[in-house]
Amino acid sequence: MHGPVAIVAAMHEELSALLAQMPDEQRVRVAGRDFWVGHLQGQPVVAVLSRIGKVAAAVTATVLLERFGVRAVVFTGVAGGLAPGVRVGDVVVATELLQHDLDASPIFPKYEVPLMGLSRFVADRAIGDALSGVAAGVLRDPVALTGRAAVEEFGLQSPKVHRGLLASGDRFVSTTAESEALRRDLPDALAVEMEGAAVAQVCHDYGVPFAAMRTISDRADDEAHGDFARFVSLVASRYSLALVGAWLATLPAVS
Ligand code: ADE
Repeated sequence: MHGPVAIVAAMHEELSALLAQMPDEQRVRVAGRDFWVGHLQGQPVVAVLSRIGKVAAAVTATVLLERFGVRAVVFTGVAGGLAPGVRVGDVVVATELLQHDLDASPIFPKYEVPLMGLSRFVADRAIGDALSGVAAGVLRDPVALTGRAAVEEFGLQSPKVHRGLLASGDRFVSTTAESEALRRDLPDALAVEMEGAAVAQVCHDYGVPFAAMRTISDRADDEAHGDFARFVSLVASRYSLALVGAWLATLPAVS
């Protein structure tokens, strides 16, 4: 396996701690995005903010694959919890990703990507296993991860790791009615966000492994908006750095 690993998040607050740990990064500007080329935990990486939404994320993924020759793409950031028991401060590691707002029926089945015959993109199993393993370890000490004040404010005392379906769409889900509809239509969806399935589709087209790890920032309900901004700025970037950093540290050294 050659090439750097891509680390992608939608927003600056999700990646700022990780970027601060890249001592030798060089900025390469393509398509209005800053790609930070450097090292993290001794591994060559390209870190980038995809911006928000499926199209922005797909453009970013395509540039990563075409211009930077990355060998894997890992998406990190936040998501709204959908399934019961997926709580603020938990981590979801995707096994599959689907676009919940894609519907070309009756021409194609609901959720199916037209002409691909696929509605769910499978995340890389080995990277997902490794991310879940390190997440379980890191989450054992939430105070060390985010500080006592954040643990108390958001009730992060016993965060859990979940694995399963991530649903992506071009909507910030911020009403209970909408999250109930998603739970009804996609009962196995653990969480909702706005980029993952788009990046998974691009990686599928290029045959490059993709994985996604999301911290739950809200419950995608009527309170989602308030929880979200504060959580993202106080908690999300620490989770991303701790989890992605610990995962990179498990990879074989690159000479
Ligand atoms: N990312 C974090 N929370 C979200 C939500 N409620 N809807 C969509 N994307 C999100």
